[in-house]
Amino acid sequence: MKIDKKLNQLPLTKSNPKTLKSLFGKTDITPMWVADMEFQIAQPIQEALKKRITNSGFGYEYKPDSFLNAQRNWYQDNYSIDLNEYYLTYSPSVTTTIAILLENFTSEGDGIITQPPVFMEFRDVVRKTKRTLTKNPLLLIDKQYQIDFQDLEEKAKEANNKILIICNPHNPVGRVWTKEELEHVVRICKENDLLLISDEIHKDIILFDNQFTSILQFAGDYKRMVVCTSEAKTFNLCGIADSVAITPDEDLQRSISDTFKKYNMGRTNALTSVALESAYRDGKPWLNELIKVIEANVATIEEEIKNSKIALIKPEGTYQVWLDFRAIYNDSRAMFDDITKRSGVGLNAGHWFGREGALFMRMNIATSNEKVTEAINKIINAASHSPS
Ligand SMILES: Cc1ncc(COP(=O)(O)O)c(C=O)c1O
Repeated sequence: MKIDKKLNQLPLTKSNPKTLKSLFGKTDITPMWVADMEFQIAQPIQEALKKRITNSGFGYEYKPDSFLNAQRNWYQDNYSIDLNEYYLTYSPSVTTTIAILLENFTSEGDGIITQPPVFMEFRDVVRKTKRTLTKNPLLLIDKQYQIDFQDLEEKAKEANNKILIICNPHNPVGRVWTKEELEHVVRICKENDLLLISDEIHKDIILFDNQFTSILQFAGDYKRMVVCTSEAKTFNLCGIADSVAITPDEDLQRSISDTFKKYNMGRTNALTSVALESAYRDGKPWLNELIKVIEANVATIEEEIKNSKIALIKPEGTYQVWLDFRAIYNDSRAMFDDITKRSGVGLNAGHWFGREGALFMRMNIATSNEKVTEAINKIINAASHSPS
């Protein structure tokens, strides 16, 4: 996997000096926090994009059958999901779809269940739409996060709670929920008539022979579900690719698509279509190689931290690792300041994902093994000089 050498010439969020200053207190930081990659994109995608921008204009476009077929084959070949065209609504982003679902299917004050520590936008979108955040925190048992089903049953029964948002694979803890776990989740939603939203944006990065299951596999049993997903993360296309909402429920599908129409948000982006179609068609070898690199980076972290007090929650999916600093620090803010200042590496503080993530940090490892090795050693060194 070749590193993209021109990254520092791009206006990337992760290295925006203003953002670095406000989050980390300084700008000379090695940013390993935002979930995008440092690898060159797959050659077929580069070529398809080059071809598209050469000698062609950009009129209004629709998604052609070639796109839909390539997308359908991707889901069929990789996940045994038969993508019914009528289940799909293209959306500018996963988070946009979630906000629309909250607004269209709940009222102000209604409870939305999430499973922290989890992607912070879930909490933010609940707050911005004036809904109430109901937490079903994950349990950490023997270095593996698990769903607290007893608590989930109780929360699901509360009449005020209307939606459950799950994250699969889970960002930041890296769990890939098993078929049995998902079956249980779906059963609880069905028994309590909860709308189930599954954010499956990390579905393609599955490590160490784990098996991804989409909730769509249970659609025959329960239809009030929406999968929000995208291949933008998979192929490092966050700057151009959009997302898709997949639902077997006609009312849900119509409601999402009516809202997009209302705000005129359904426009097809020509570059997104080209990039994704070529990714679906020819991106698999690149993705296979990427997964090997990420697995090797996880192994490196495991090896390097062996003699330190930092513990690793080994990811089953995603290209992030969740590092446990509980044996070193007892104050999350102090941990974040200390590691940032001493190591010069910019990580996500665990408490950004909810207070359940306190004393953990998330590190993006979608970069070269050399960089990961250097960064983790700086972090180990920083933690070994901690005052506590
Ligand atoms: C779980 C999860 N969902 C959604 C997103 C963002 O997706 P989008 O930009 O399509 O809203 C991210 C980005 O890090 C993510 O980790």
